Amino acid sequence: MADLLGNKKPIARVGIIGCGNIASILDEKSSASDFAKTHAKAYRQDLRFDLAALCDLNDSRLLTAQQAWSVKFATTRIEEFLAQNLDIVSLCTPVEMQLELLKKILEHKVKVVFCEKPLGRNLVEAEQILKVVERSASIVAVNYIRRYDSEIVAIKKEILEKCLDVQKVVCHYGKGLLNNGSHLIDLLVYFFGLPSRVRYIDTCKDDREDSDDPSMSAVFYYEGPAAFSVYLTAQDHRNFSNLEMDIFMREGRTQILDSGREILKFRAVTDRDYPDYKSLGLVAHLQGGLKHVLALGCGEMYELWRDQKVAPTSPVQDSIAIHRIIEAIKKSKERNEVARCQ
Ligand SMILES: NC(=O)c1ccc[n+]([C@@H]2O[C@H](COP(=O)([O-])OP(=O)(O)OC[C@H]3O[C@@H](n4cnc5c(N)ncnc54)[C@H](O)[C@@H]3O)[C@@H](O)[C@H]2O)c1
Repeated sequence: MADLLGNKKPIARVGIIGCGNIASILDEKSSASDFAKTHAKAYRQDLRFDLAALCDLNDSRLLTAQQAWSVKFATTRIEEFLAQNLDIVSLCTPVEMQLELLKKILEHKVKVVFCEKPLGRNLVEAEQILKVVERSASIVAVNYIRRYDSEIVAIKKEILEKCLDVQKVVCHYGKGLLNNGSHLIDLLVYFFGLPSRVRYIDTCKDDREDSDDPSMSAVFYYEGPAAFSVYLTAQDHRNFSNLEMDIFMREGRTQILDSGREILKFRAVTDRDYPDYKSLGLVAHLQGGLKHVLALGCGEMYELWRDQKVAPTSPVQDSIAIHRIIEAIKKSKERNEVARCQ
């Protein structure tokens, strides 16, 4: 591949471990649209990558993925996979396998790893992963996909650069605090950092109620001169899927709706009927970039590999913050009191 001046760009050799839904299946039967829902399609449609190797413990899954993406090398053995001289590896196995596999990937000095969320099953495991990453010369990014959406980046910039005065945030999710709630907790960490304290409210009465990862509601307290609180509420995912964030500011309101597909921005304006009052006027109705985020995330892996970027948009450290918050919510539930995150 050549750039505008005719200089050839190096092609990154990529491999994927775990060939299930997020790696491959969700796009195996999809149309000609360029919407990449999977790592395999995102790499395949970007000429900067050679999708060179796949690994999965399940033979038939491996073969189906290999045929779907015409990948030359596929194996059930991790050692054979890592002997393929890969520049970038996407780790798309269930979370239980991450620590063991990451150790092996980093021992083989793969320069960039794009790891599916969540990072580790709990805080202890996430901290073990962080140690392994810090001891290596590799760069590991976690796929919290909404961070790659330019509209989400714009919201963060707006809050920080225009110093918008956040008053209250209300979030809705379902299907597990770590599994799905972590997408919203990650956005809160991305926008505002780690809250000081949290309080557990209740647990959603869905089919995950007695599992390791129930859907819990909680309040987050951000302290300091610009103190505000966040209400995270859990809904029954069997009714419908939902991820939403509603940010109330002195200057107006920003809503991230429909899992990030829609973004509404309102500003406080003089009410058209009652001029002594202010009401909300819609100033922007935007389409979030959910269709492009995985392609952008994989694109960032190329930039990290080529040293065009030094730090990932979604670093391992921020996943530690997510686990700190979740552990604090659990502690708050056990002790029936507010728990510290910091
Ligand atoms: N970023 C997102 O928005 C998003 C969306 C969906 C899933 N995910 C995450 O991706 C991960 C995988 O989810 P999924 O739905 O694709 O799972 P999945 O069960 O569909 O696929 C996982 C695959 O990994 C394989 N596997 C298991 N252990 C392995 C090992 N030791 N070596 C090689 N292969 C192994 C399995 O055989 C399976 O094919 C989960 O952590 C999930 O939370 C993230």
